[in-house]
Amino acid sequence: MTDKKRVFSGLQPTGDIHLGNYLGALKNWVKLQDDYDPVYCVVDLHAITVDYDPAIYQRERLEAAKVLMACGIDPQRSLFYFQSQVPQHTELSWILGTMTPMGVLNRMTQYKDKVDKGIAANFGLFAYPVLMAADILLYRAHLVPVGDDQKQHLEMTRDIAERFNNRFGEVFPIPDPLIPEHTARVMSLSDPTSKMSKSDPNLKSRVLVLDSPDVIRKKLRSAVTDSDPDVRYDWTAKPGVSNLLEIFSACSGRTIDDLEGEYQSSGYGVFKDAVADAVIAELAPISKAYDALDDGEVSALMATGAARARDLAEEYQEEVRRVTGFAAP
Ligand code: TRP
Repeated sequence: MTDKKRVFSGLQPTGDIHLGNYLGALKNWVKLQDDYDPVYCVVDLHAITVDYDPAIYQRERLEAAKVLMACGIDPQRSLFYFQSQVPQHTELSWILGTMTPMGVLNRMTQYKDKVDKGIAANFGLFAYPVLMAADILLYRAHLVPVGDDQKQHLEMTRDIAERFNNRFGEVFPIPDPLIPEHTARVMSLSDPTSKMSKSDPNLKSRVLVLDSPDVIRKKLRSAVTDSDPDVRYDWTAKPGVSNLLEIFSACSGRTIDDLEGEYQSSGYGVFKDAVADAVIAELAPISKAYDALDDGEVSALMATGAARARDLAEEYQEEVRRVTGFAAP
């Protein structure tokens, strides 16, 4: 046992991992390994709440694990595994589901947004936040690094934990969001007013973590800017340029002020090339680490992670079974 605080987070293994995922979340996950006791879960059961193809999916799931390892998720320092390999997640999810009022789930905006976009509503999609609560509470996590889009789900998790504790005793710590001092806000390169997204049909809208240097440069050169040539950080008047400055700063470690000072009147061509250099320098080691990983080895590491996760989850879940009246007869 360690006295470090436990952090839990999950990533859906669908689509290619892009610069927004990396700068907005994964880079921070890697850093948290120094000071916390992290559990990082590839949430494959969450991903099947929308239509999927089992064969493609199997491959995507392993790819996600490989990219995360290449980014620096270290299975020695983090508990790292596929959610579906640890059945305690779904067991706890059922129990928590019986304590989650319909009214609370009906208020979840992500569900409403997905249905409005035409995604077929099913029970799994509706119950998605309950499974997420189970992920977090199963390991008694104290802190959850989440982006804005998941804040409401975390609020709901806190609410369910309180309901459970009030009824059955103090079992779950109430998890807090973990918001790093500065997370990059990475927007689409083709429409800088919306977030960089895996599901955007325009492939130029995002840089993938595994893109080659040439592709990265092409995508950054074609990034949408505006007709006034000043390089200035101003999200209202110049969202495209501000997004590039944000990306540049996150990749180079330099402040936005400093970059504005240097590139203010350099022209967009020079500026975009400099952004591309910084992104290439940031992502090159990840591609290199990825190429060095072997599928079989990664699968074996995921199996070991799952075995460790099951042991830990089983210990915790015994307590839940005991207080809820489900101890083995
Ligand atoms: N719903 C999260 C997302 O789409 C993924 C997720 C599943 C998660 N379980 C979690 C995130 C637990 C944090 C904690 O981004």
